[in-house]
Amino acid sequence: MIFRQILHSQTGCASYVFGCTGKAKLAVVDPHLDHIADYLEVARQANSPIVAIFETHVQADHHSGAALLAAATHAPIYLHESAQVTFSFTPLKDADVVELGNDYVRVLHTPGHSADSISLVVGDRVRTETPWLVFTGDTLFVGDVGRPDLHGDANTALYAGQLYDSLFNKLLKLDDMVEVYPSHFSGSVCGRNMSGKPSSTIGFERRFNAALQHTDREAFIAFVQKDQTPAPPEFTTIRQTNLSLQMRETAG
Ligand SMILES: [Fe+2]
Repeated sequence: MIFRQILHSQTGCASYVFGCTGKAKLAVVDPHLDHIADYLEVARQANSPIVAIFETHVQADHHSGAALLAAATHAPIYLHESAQVTFSFTPLKDADVVELGNDYVRVLHTPGHSADSISLVVGDRVRTETPWLVFTGDTLFVGDVGRPDLHGDANTALYAGQLYDSLFNKLLKLDDMVEVYPSHFSGSVCGRNMSGKPSSTIGFERRFNAALQHTDREAFIAFVQKDQTPAPPEFTTIRQTNLSLQMRETAG
């Protein structure tokens, strides 16, 4: 398996290229519009095409590169089935598995930050069936958890409860040694206390992530609603653009 983390420091965004070079199948997670050339260069060097594009959810803080990358690679775009986008995509639901050569990608539906949020559990069967890492999107960060407040005040407590279930009943069921790769790190406004270190493990976050110390559901719901800064006004327009990406017919 190869694995590359691509960081966009200006807005604290992380995206990823990973996959199986043995059977020449790579995937990109949360492609950023400014990094298309980086993803393609990783694929070129690995001599393996990008055959899958995953979005952990429809992002609101940066412009997605999914359409441009799909045009350049002809790879399908995978999103949770509940995503309200206007372009065509391959729908995923909880427990779906996407094969990438010797690697697998297992979907966990982890709503809370958004209804369409997924996490992607990845393993390399050349090593073992045991999960090795998880892309946690905006559900679990290093040192923080996702914001449940981007859907309007009336829904924040409801989404905070969903976030609790996604974290405690899904992500934290993974083994402590599973590596955590989030979609944001320090510098992003998608959280309050994210670390500048853009990776962690389930075990380290279980023990030291401040939000995850609130194991009581009501205490957690109160904690994640406290001290949230207002969402930047541009979030609405960026999300709107990402909901209606223009697909292109040919490689650009
Ligand atoms: Fe987000």
